[in-house]
Amino acid sequence: MKARDYINSDNNKLLIENIGEKRFNHTIRVVETAEKLAKFYETNIESAKIAAYFHDCGKFLDKSLIWSKAEKYGLDIEDEMRQSPQIIHGFLAAKIIENDYGIEDIDILNSIRYHTTGRTNMSTLEKVIYISDYIEPGRSFEGVEIVRDMIYKNLDMALYTALNQTINNLIVNDIYIAKNSFLARNYYLLEYKR
Ligand SMILES: [Fe+2]
Ligand SMILES: [Fe+2]
Repeated sequence: MKARDYINSDNNKLLIENIGEKRFNHTIRVVETAEKLAKFYETNIESAKIAAYFHDCGKFLDKSLIWSKAEKYGLDIEDEMRQSPQIIHGFLAAKIIENDYGIEDIDILNSIRYHTTGRTNMSTLEKVIYISDYIEPGRSFEGVEIVRDMIYKNLDMALYTALNQTINNLIVNDIYIAKNSFLARNYYLLEYKR
């Protein structure tokens, strides 16, 4: 199905209700960024727009809802998710779109699942979604420009730098690091120099 079948006023309304206006505006900027990157890196543009549109649909304005939603959608909460609850929303979002929208495309589902942590050996679509979420024009944190400058030159280097900066922040703030993040960081350290 085409992105227009999902990105429409009915779904916008539902998404705004669940994730709030601010995150919805972020979502739209991720869709626009992902579309450009998908074009440039010649991966499926429709898939990129759909994955970007739903990437944060597992994040709720009422944060406590995440546990009941996880139960409702049959998401297994692994030990690591309890240490690092911020990684749950990607896995939950994939469950929600599979269940509520019948989206079965494994590349779209994985792009959403791993948009917070990254992982080793990501597909082009997975990289596009991870990076678009990180550098969309509304982002203004320290270090974002460094990654923006890399995205059209070396996507793996951009990915590595984003992972590095994210892990650095987790360390500085005394926050648990999901294993996919440091495995991905080491993987892309070697990969971007190829
Ligand atoms: Fe997210
Ligand atoms: Fe996001």
